[in-house]
Amino acid sequence: MNFRVNGEASEVAAAPNRLLLDVLREDLNLTGTKLGCDDGSCGACTVLVDALPSQCCMMLAVSYQNREITTVEGLAKNGQLDALQKAFCTEGGQQCGFCTPGILMTARALLLENPNPSVQDIGQALAGNMCRCTGYTKIIAAIQRAARDYEEAAEKEVAAI
Ligand code: FES
Ligand code: FES
Repeated sequence: MNFRVNGEASEVAAAPNRLLLDVLREDLNLTGTKLGCDDGSCGACTVLVDALPSQCCMMLAVSYQNREITTVEGLAKNGQLDALQKAFCTEGGQQCGFCTPGILMTARALLLENPNPSVQDIGQALAGNMCRCTGYTKIIAAIQRAARDYEEAAEKEVAAI
């Protein structure tokens, strides 16, 4: 099978019944994506497929060949954490961290679609991501901080042109 993950092409010898989560973790060694419930209800396995959040514990890998897949490992660029990852560190948006990769990917998709989300927008977007530790308040604060940071970075880019 042929995949595009985090901007790179990969070829994997895999049986047609393999799940995308297993291919990512076991064949491509991208273990940031977590297995939680294994039944589509916790969001720990969320990745982006063509910029949309998708729970890959329920997806046959064979169906996602040559789609643009982004895992949490694809957020950082040139050794620098993405603004969302920095904001989670600054705001304390993670405790045990098990839910964090999935929540980061859901948040990334939200901010791509809606650069200035309200608390309600964030709550709706996170409806499929369970966190047992944080109570969500700091996660929401982190996503709002990241939204401001993305906006500031975009303004600086425009000013530099
Ligand atoms: S592990 Fe996929 S939704 Fe829980
Ligand atoms: S930080 Fe522990 S489950 Fe979310």
